[in-house]
Amino acid sequence: MNASSRTAKPFLTVLEGQSVNPPPIWLMRQAGRYLPEYKALRTQAANFLDFCFRPELAIEATLQPIRRFGLDAAILFSDILTIPWALGQKVEFLEGEGPVLEPLRSADDIARLRPDGAIERLAPVYRTVTGVAAALPKETALIGFAGAPWTVAAYMVEGHGSRDFLIAKGFGMAQPDLFDRILDIVTAATIEHLSAQIVAGAEAVQLFDSWAGVLAEREFRRWVVAPTKRIAAALRDKHPGVPLIGFPRGAGGLLADYAVETGVSCVGLDTQVPLAWAMKALPPRLPVQGNLDPVALVTGGQALSEGIRTILDQTRGRPAIFNLGHGVPMTTPPAHVAELVRLVRGG
Ligand code: CP3
Repeated sequence: MNASSRTAKPFLTVLEGQSVNPPPIWLMRQAGRYLPEYKALRTQAANFLDFCFRPELAIEATLQPIRRFGLDAAILFSDILTIPWALGQKVEFLEGEGPVLEPLRSADDIARLRPDGAIERLAPVYRTVTGVAAALPKETALIGFAGAPWTVAAYMVEGHGSRDFLIAKGFGMAQPDLFDRILDIVTAATIEHLSAQIVAGAEAVQLFDSWAGVLAEREFRRWVVAPTKRIAAALRDKHPGVPLIGFPRGAGGLLADYAVETGVSCVGLDTQVPLAWAMKALPPRLPVQGNLDPVALVTGGQALSEGIRTILDQTRGRPAIFNLGHGVPMTTPPAHVAELVRLVRGG
């Protein structure tokens, strides 16, 4: 990527540490079931993983929100649970129930994982990245992603979604050596997976640590900060200049240490992070991303316009990317997303 094509993308300019006004905007989970064109496309695949692994479908799903809303960045259409699948774990997405995995609960379960060849099994994902890169408008950046090791390992051990990931957390506390083995396998696969996305054309990558918020300080430092630091260092080494956004949802007061100690290039702020606090607690030149309450997007009207105004006012002068504090809810009227983009851009 040369300097002139970089500067043409406001999203990447912010990640280089410059403030841009109005801020670039994209939304976590900007593709998906709130869009009628996604629901129509989704009927072409037997199941969700099949959809993720068919580049012609995944390319189209990635581009749908870009066409409709002209966002500043596209995010690869895929899922964080492709890694456990590629490692040989049984992963299914059941309609109305979410992901179901054959849970890892013993040394034997872990020994059955097959790290060798995992990245080769994900080849269709990289073909999707290359296809999207070729189709995007020149001012639109392309984001690759993976789940962070704690969040992915939590699904691998728990076997399904959960409010508190009690089983995974308890397993990690009771059998720290076995849990570290899982984290090590996932961390190594994640480095390779993000690296392959960058080689295929991703210009920035994000780590989703959606369940960082269920951990106490000690486990947060061992299972969130340490593996993220390893990933950031490996990517900096292999792909200098490609930014890594870390999103430790629910980190609370630990966000400040996360921002400094992991070496990520930008931190994603979840809905609950008080912006006045974050602006003081985080290094002044560190780019931030966030953090509109997704419910304000569903609601629209004054909740939406006032929520946007507060974020624009409080992040002024700092390199900032406008986003939600978590993903776009399924019940979001697409017209509210169009309104959000218009208001952020000063319309
Ligand atoms: O952001 C995007 O638009 C890109 C695509 C994307 C998806 N999942 C598509 C998806 C991304 C970045 C993800 C990340 C992801 N997946 C996370 C981290 C972000 C977060 O929301 O916290 C997590 C925890 C997952 C795991 C996952 N995948 C769950 C819990 C579910 C079920 C949710 C549900 O509502 O059923 C999925 C499935 C999934 N991933 C869907 C989509 C569009 C819905 C499935 C479908 O269309 O049939």
